Amino acid sequence: MKVAVIGAGIAGISCASKLQQAGYQVVLFDKARSVGGRMTSKRSTQGYMDFGAQYFTARHPLFQQQVASWQQHGVVSRWLAPLYQYEQARLLASPDAQQRYVGIPAMHSPLKWQARQLDCQLSCRITALKAKENTWQLIAESGEQFGPFDEVVLTLPPAQVNSLLPQTVTQRFPETILQPCWAVTLVLAKGTAHAAGGIFIKDAESPLSWVSRHNSKPGRAQTESWLLHFKPAFSALHLQQDQAFWQQTAEQTLSALLGQPLAVAEMISHRWLYAQIQTQHQDFHYEGVIAAGLWVAGDWTRGGRVENAWLSGIEIAQQIIVKQGASVCPSIG
Ligand code: FAD
Ligand code: NAI
Repeated sequence: MKVAVIGAGIAGISCASKLQQAGYQVVLFDKARSVGGRMTSKRSTQGYMDFGAQYFTARHPLFQQQVASWQQHGVVSRWLAPLYQYEQARLLASPDAQQRYVGIPAMHSPLKWQARQLDCQLSCRITALKAKENTWQLIAESGEQFGPFDEVVLTLPPAQVNSLLPQTVTQRFPETILQPCWAVTLVLAKGTAHAAGGIFIKDAESPLSWVSRHNSKPGRAQTESWLLHFKPAFSALHLQQDQAFWQQTAEQTLSALLGQPLAVAEMISHRWLYAQIQTQHQDFHYEGVIAAGLWVAGDWTRGGRVENAWLSGIEIAQQIIVKQGASVCPSIG
């Protein structure tokens, strides 16, 4: 039984791994040069920098088991840095008891580790799906064709899912459910000595949604560097702005937040067109099957977040396994 999983983010990797363990022949496709999707970190002179997901929590027992296994293999660790909150123009410590995890040495590390046993076709953008005698054929941007596959799982943001669906499939998904985010990292020539590891921004006037200090995470370079995530509305308004705009905006905003001038040595930015789910869509739950042999998974089908992306991939794998009668797995609920 052959399955194609399109998208090598955490949803695609969890789905592909589960199916492979159950004896399926799985091929994982991604347009990017490496696996990770929105957990991908960028290489810099200061080692890897996390521009997408910053950390994750594990509330579901199945995901807790997976996280424990990643910890045993040294690719995930707890993140114990002090947390702060910025509200009504005040920056205050905001400690809590929540356990938070990061990849070691980068957010994508558990995915790279897991994908080493999978058949990955990277730098391979799929541009069309063709139904052929109860199977599916994949057509890549290069013109290359893959298949036939008995099952195809799409683990892409909804706009990218929609662009792949053949006209014979009428279903379309809400494209604005995932919002844009500009991410900017400032590497400092001189440290601020600020204790904050992460800062939740709760101030309506701030253009920011989240700030973190990279070097507060285990396994990172010790040079002080800060990551800023700009709010969806601010990011959308300035979607086309250049590096100079983001350097100036990030420097001014972080300097005001920390209450001191900054000596910036390097700025690296990344624009996410589809970043995180809109708050009002957190309860959106899509069940998964689009057409015969065609499935959809991904964070947005289950309320967003790394954990839900992982669970969505497992859930679709279980549905395929049950459908094919290979074994019966409990629903993850
Ligand atoms: P993705 O990771 O988006 O994977 C989809 C993959 O599909 C990508 O690798 C893409 O290259 C590939 N692809 C797309 N189109 C094609 C095509 N046509 N052909 C082949 N491949 C294709 N979550 C948390 O839990 N904690 C956080 O702190 C957090 N912060 C975040 C901050 C930002 C800025 C962003 C962007 C996200 C954040 N998230 C966070 C959300 C989290 O990153 C996502 O929920 C999760 O990584 C989504 O995984 P996924 O597998 O569903 O999708
Ligand atoms: P989590 O439990 O650490 O955070 C969830 C939310 O709770 C945070 O976004 C923050 O607003 C609040 N929060 C948690 N601890 C806090 C503290 N000590 N002080 C002040 N506020 C605190 O992690 P979870 O649930 O795994 O979320 C992970 C990521 O997903 C984060 O990036 C978070 O911002 C994001 N998220 C996005 C949502 C959205 O609708 N866009 C909704 C929930 C989380």
